[in-house]
Amino acid sequence: MKVINAISEMKETRRKLRGSVGFVPTMGYLHEGHLELARRARAENRNVVVSIFVNPTQFGPKEDYASYPRDPERDLAMLKKEGVNIVFMPSAEDMYPPRYSTWVNVEKVTERLEGAIRPGHFRGVATVVAKLFNIVQPDKAYFGQKDAQQVVVVKKMVSDLNMNLEVVVVPTVREPDGLAMSSRNVYLNPEERKAALVLYESLKLAQKLWDKGERNADVIRKQMTALIQSEPRAERIDYVSIADAETLEELDRIDRPAVVSLAVKIGKPRLIDNIMLAA
Ligand code: PAJ
Repeated sequence: MKVINAISEMKETRRKLRGSVGFVPTMGYLHEGHLELARRARAENRNVVVSIFVNPTQFGPKEDYASYPRDPERDLAMLKKEGVNIVFMPSAEDMYPPRYSTWVNVEKVTERLEGAIRPGHFRGVATVVAKLFNIVQPDKAYFGQKDAQQVVVVKKMVSDLNMNLEVVVVPTVREPDGLAMSSRNVYLNPEERKAALVLYESLKLAQKLWDKGERNADVIRKQMTALIQSEPRAERIDYVSIADAETLEELDRIDRPAVVSLAVKIGKPRLIDNIMLAA
């Protein structure tokens, strides 16, 4: 497994690769969710490139960029076991040199949900993903359904800018009790870790209501919200959304494929999770 830091070396190495390249962008502090993306990339490509880069431009000024968990040694050992060929770990100085000034703004789908609560977040995500795509030139890039809006934004960017690659979406990997794996779960103390289950419980409630034939989105949102509010450690609900899976516009009636998503602050972190309802 080759570890590359310099952008120039990554580009040169890429040029020499023969066969398809699968690419998994990450911010490190890897868990089973990330590894699942790497395995999928491994199964579908001759070469697998994983990037580890905590991207400063997708964090707001009051967010956790400085304290975002990092453990590159452990990450590298995990990736080596998965048969990854190349790990790309650029520095922030190389990715954003002084006077850096080009940004990718995906409109509309970035305006709601995470985008509404984290202004500028998706501008940072789209920009860094576009830069990484340019450097790595993958045939396929792998993203987790865990970040449902990120998937919509990246797919829109790839389509609007005619990028020459396929975006592959991998189902959310969960802990045995249902909590979606996330690098930020390390911030939870044991009581908060238990309380965090309420996110998945409320998504399962939505699924159950939908299975029983409920199609009124507000009825489902209200019951989900009540369930979350019954958990005292759920300090703040940022949103409980049932939206069109493609445009992310909120639905009244669930008459097309929908994504049920939520963001709840439990202890220090804001946790997000979602499920799809296929109409
Ligand atoms: P990060 O949060 O490290 O996640 C990297 C990839 O792993 C994303 O595609 C994310 O959706 C996926 N992932 C995270 N948890 C998952 C889980 N439990 N199951 C399945 N997939 C999961 O997302 C980012 O980094 C950044 O925004 C990035 C795309 C790297 C741009 O900086």
